[in-house]
Amino acid sequence: MPSERKNKILGVVSGKGGVGKSVIAINTAMLLKRQGRNSIIVDCDLSNPSAGLHLGLSYGAIGIQEVLQGKAKAADAIVVQPQSGLRVLPASLKYHPDVGLKNLKNILWGMSGYDYIVVDSPPGITDDVEYILDACDEVVVVTTPDVPSATSAAKVISLCKDKKTPVKGVVVNRISGAAFELTNREIETMAEVPIVANIPEDSLVPESIAARTPIVLYKSSSPASKRLKDFVSVLTSVGEPMQIRDTVFHRLKRFFRKLFRR
Ligand SMILES: Nc1ncnc2c1ncn2[C@@H]1O[C@H](COP(=O)(O)OP(=O)(O)OP(=O)(O)O)[C@@H](O)[C@H]1O
Ligand SMILES: [Mg+2]
Repeated sequence: MPSERKNKILGVVSGKGGVGKSVIAINTAMLLKRQGRNSIIVDCDLSNPSAGLHLGLSYGAIGIQEVLQGKAKAADAIVVQPQSGLRVLPASLKYHPDVGLKNLKNILWGMSGYDYIVVDSPPGITDDVEYILDACDEVVVVTTPDVPSATSAAKVISLCKDKKTPVKGVVVNRISGAAFELTNREIETMAEVPIVANIPEDSLVPESIAARTPIVLYKSSSPASKRLKDFVSVLTSVGEPMQIRDTVFHRLKRFFRKLFRR
């Protein structure tokens, strides 16, 4: 990492899709901006871009795909959300099957003047997600409190270990409090990194998306907004990301042993 690079590039990743990455990435960037930090959200979900939709932006002709192709500069693609002043590097809604994130690191590392670059990732373990992990200084892994999602999250955490990408922690989203949901302890046993946020199921989240306004602006006192604010406080507090010590196989084996004994 060049010593002159001052910004932090934070990836929001997950194993399974639909767990709330985009909601968390967008609201995190928004809250960082509101804290006075110069932040930008970068939509790296080239197949299903949603940052612009969540923020009510009208899509321009240039998106990150054109920047990745070398046809445009990042500065030409960046737009500003009028209500908040948040900067966004959106992905074009036009599908570009031939474009991938191979050049992402060069692009993000060349974006100066930001305190935080928040990357909204597509789900799963793909080449593009590996490029995201290579480009980020740190990631948070989002899961819902169920076995399939947490198992997939553990796999992504294992990939982070292989790639030496620090993991700040796990964000557990859409917690309803039902007895069958995984507990924090169970998720931490699987993930072997700490949980850094517990965000409840909150009907105001889909309502805010329909209103094209991030939940933290739409209803800052809502249950999800409150926990998102706590999360951003944790994110900006000084602390070393956890080192991942164990293999995914051993973590899952221990977890399932405990699960079936309870
Ligand atoms: N805390 C929450 N409470 C209620 N609904 C939520 C919450 N978080 C996310 N959702 C809903 O879950 C859906 C998926 O959220 P989102 O698009 O952020 O997931 P994603 O992980 O980015 O999905 P993808 O993997 O497809 O990119 C949205 O419809 C959103 O309204
Ligand atoms: Mg998404």
